[in-house]
Amino acid sequence: MSLLEQIDVSRLPRHVAIIMDGNGRWAKEKGKLRVFGHQSGVLSVRDTVEGAVKLGIPFLTLYAFSAENWNRPKLEVYALMELLVSTISKETKTLMENGVKLNAIGNLKSLPPRCIKQLNETIKKTSVNSNCTLTLALSYSSRWEITQAARSLALDVKEGKLEPADIDEDVFESRLSTAGIPDPELMIRTSGEYRISNYLLWQLAYSELYFTPKLWPDFRREDFYEAIFDFQKRERRFGKTSEQLYPNF
Ligand code: FPP
Repeated sequence: MSLLEQIDVSRLPRHVAIIMDGNGRWAKEKGKLRVFGHQSGVLSVRDTVEGAVKLGIPFLTLYAFSAENWNRPKLEVYALMELLVSTISKETKTLMENGVKLNAIGNLKSLPPRCIKQLNETIKKTSVNSNCTLTLALSYSSRWEITQAARSLALDVKEGKLEPADIDEDVFESRLSTAGIPDPELMIRTSGEYRISNYLLWQLAYSELYFTPKLWPDFRREDFYEAIFDFQKRERRFGKTSEQLYPNF
C-alpha cells in the first residue's frame, strides 16, 4: 500500500505550516552558490503545494523569508527577492490549475515594490480559488506580528473603542495577520534543525511538530505525506488525559 493510501483523509490537519530550511547547505554540498539552493527549492514548493491540494489540505503556510533574513549578504537578499517575483509570476498558472488562493503575511511594506506588485496581482487573480489557501510568510517575524497586534489593541483602548477587560484570546487573535485562518495543526521543519525561529509563535501553541533531516530542495510530496502519516499516529490531548479522551479503553 502506498503512503498516500495509508493516510486517513477524514483526519487530515486543516492547516500545515512549513519552515523550508537547508537550501544553502544543499547547494554547498554540491559545490554551488547558495542561490542555486533557493532556485532548486522552488521545485519542492511546487510539488508540496500540489501534494497538499491532492490530499485536500485547506491551508498551507510557508516561511519564505523571515525578517531576520534581511541581514543576509545583499546579493543573496536581492536574488531571493528576484526569485520570489519570478516564481510567483510563473507559478500563477499552476496555482489557478490547482485552485490555490495565494495569501501573504508579514511586514509586506518592507518588500521591494516589484515584489509587492507581483504579490498583489497574483493574490487578486487567485482570490476566486477555494481548494487551498497558500500563505507565504514574507519579511515575517512572529514577535513583530504580536507586537503589532498589541499596538493596535492599545490604540483602540486609547481611543475609547475597546475596554481592556474585553481583550480575550479571540480579540487578540483577530489582530494577527492570520486572522480567519485556523491554527496549524502540524508544523514541519526540514534540514534537521529543531527550532521554531520566530515563526507563528501564537498560532503554533498546540501544533504537532515534525522535524526531518531532509534539506528543503530534496523535499517532495512523499515527504509531506510521511509527515501527515506521522501526525495521524499522534495523540493530541490539548491538556487532557488519555483516559478523558478515550474513556472506553
Ligand atoms: C532557508 O534555507 C530558505 C530560505 C530563506 C528561502 C526559501 C525560499 C525558497 C524555497 C524559494 C522561493 C519560495 C517561494 C515560496 C516562491 P537557508 O538558506 O537558511 O539554508 P541553510 O540553513 O542551509 O543556509
